[in-house]
Amino acid sequence: MQLTLRILRFTQGDAQPPHYQDFTLEMPPSATVLDCLEEIKGHQDGSLTFRRSCRSAICGSCAVRINGRSGLACKTQARDVMDSRGRLTLEPLRYQPVIKDLVVDQSPYWQRYHAIIPWVTPKADLPERENRISPHEVERMGTAETCINCGACLSSCPIVLTDPDYLGPSALAAAWRFCNDSRDTRRAERLKIVDSANGVWRCHTVFNCIEACPKGLNPTWAITQLRNLIMREKLFGGHS
Ligand code: F3S
Repeated sequence: MQLTLRILRFTQGDAQPPHYQDFTLEMPPSATVLDCLEEIKGHQDGSLTFRRSCRSAICGSCAVRINGRSGLACKTQARDVMDSRGRLTLEPLRYQPVIKDLVVDQSPYWQRYHAIIPWVTPKADLPERENRISPHEVERMGTAETCINCGACLSSCPIVLTDPDYLGPSALAAAWRFCNDSRDTRRAERLKIVDSANGVWRCHTVFNCIEACPKGLNPTWAITQLRNLIMREKLFGGHS
């Protein structure tokens, strides 16, 4: 099949402003968007820059905007997103400074993520064997622990546009995951962070994050659970 990829090009520090460049190529019908990018880089323009690693929707590296929607280039088949004339548009993720072409500086994503204390701080008296949590606790986390941190959800959330400090869907979903881990000792501290002005109450339940997530996760559900937990803590002062 023949298709034309319109790609937003930009190099940080370059005098040339961001501009679109079209690449027309011939690909097999099964080609993914990432296959198309590899084809362009290998045979048309070696300077085209994008991230990728696993090619299996596991590492999250190749998240980009495809026709304005955030997703993984390796998981998206080109024929599913091109228009009737074989055209599709690729742009870098939003809310993160562009380094070159489709590669963004992910610091704003990771700053949000680190802000919610995304690790377990165990009690001092650690057991000698495995420090396990119960299947019930894992169930309560929902699917939040399977996030691959691709950043597609953050890029799709319109709230970040008006509140650049909003913690965003993936960080809040991670907060829900760690708030349900009985091995952790910093739950109260984490809850205070997500109960702040830039936390769970900023979500307007737009649901874009669910649509963008390539792993089928539901950050909106996790945010709602966190809100419920905060309210229960305030009303009853305990875990329920
Ligand atoms: Fe944003 Fe998702 Fe809430 S898109 S507004 S975090 S439901």
